[in-house]
Amino acid sequence: MTGITIQPQRLLDDLETLRSYGRCGSGVVRPAYCEADIEARKWLAGRMREAGLEPVFDPVGNLFGLPPGDEPCLLMGSHSDSQPEGGWLDGAYGVIAALEVARASREAGGPPVAVVSFQDEEGRFTTLTGSRVWSGLMSLEEADAMTDHEGVTMAEARATMADLAGDFPAHGRFSAFVEAHIEQGPVLDQSGERIGVVEDIVGIRSERYRFEGQQNHAGTTPMRLRRDAYQGLAEFTTLLNARLAPLVTPATVWTIGHVAVHPNAPSIVPGRVDFTVQWRDGETARLDRMESVIRSTAEEVAGKRELSVSRSAYARIEPARMAPALAARIEAAARQHAEGLWRRMPSGALHDAANVAHVMPAAMLFVPSKRGISHSFEEDTAHDDLALGAQVLATAAANAG
Ligand code: GLV
Ligand code: MN
Ligand code: MN
Repeated sequence: MTGITIQPQRLLDDLETLRSYGRCGSGVVRPAYCEADIEARKWLAGRMREAGLEPVFDPVGNLFGLPPGDEPCLLMGSHSDSQPEGGWLDGAYGVIAALEVARASREAGGPPVAVVSFQDEEGRFTTLTGSRVWSGLMSLEEADAMTDHEGVTMAEARATMADLAGDFPAHGRFSAFVEAHIEQGPVLDQSGERIGVVEDIVGIRSERYRFEGQQNHAGTTPMRLRRDAYQGLAEFTTLLNARLAPLVTPATVWTIGHVAVHPNAPSIVPGRVDFTVQWRDGETARLDRMESVIRSTAEEVAGKRELSVSRSAYARIEPARMAPALAARIEAAARQHAEGLWRRMPSGALHDAANVAHVMPAAMLFVPSKRGISHSFEEDTAHDDLALGAQVLATAAANAG
């Protein structure tokens, strides 16, 4: 076919409308299954219908927009839930870019394109929950038992969408998956390039830990008798940084991102601290080595300070390679629209494509993030880059058809 041309203003208008759901300053607060998330999904379902797609919510709350007919078609999209403090483009860009490509392709007489917004990509319950269940990497029963930081189960959360739920679309309905996303890092912004063709997505491990000591009076309890859970975490953090440093590459990362000190009061020796440890790398063997250091350091600190330690698994996703032939199609489209301004690159952020890659060929493209900032209200991308990314996606879709 001759080509698919997207409408940049329509893309931007829909992105702005999606941003209005849960808007907070320049960003959004739209975690999975909150009212703003569900309302946004209902609005998206309407936009899908207007684009000639049949909206289908699956039991997890993933929203698919399916074109008429049974022939396997390209699936494009990402997620529309956000971090507890999220940017307006993380996930939203890939969903709206996919919608624009589906519309533009239909107008141009191009191949049918299906659209998806996966649920709970941002890990309220576990990382990439919706695509994990749909891809068959986690059962619905396992997902239902996961809890958020407030103790709400996934089963309780998804019950709030039960009135919308249909069936899981079969994987065979789709020939491949392409996800557009903001880079969320500094590489393209610093190089002045405008498109990233993703080759690999890093693997992630994440565990929840609890140190428990003795809650006590902060004035009367001598230092030598304290079993202070927070001090245990402080020592664990320092030791861990020193011990991981020799094992890692410059691309390896680890984060203690969620900490809850109990009871969190100035005059009480903390009796309990809950925290998460997350680590990411492109090689499974290195993830394994880090895991053993993290676990043994936690045991050691707890033993020394007479704390009890417990841990539970939170997320575990293996590194994923994008499908070479599909990535080559995106590369060809990038050459056409941004010659000299694109590169192949790995992804340090997790994406639904890592799960979907287990059931069909999957690939991704990135657009730059201003100052490399994401998972923050400050996240942003130049409008021209948003439009260019969607056009590259459309050309890749045309070439696939
Ligand atoms: C997904 O948002 C991630 O944390 O990489
Ligand atoms: Mn995302
Ligand atoms: Mn994210």
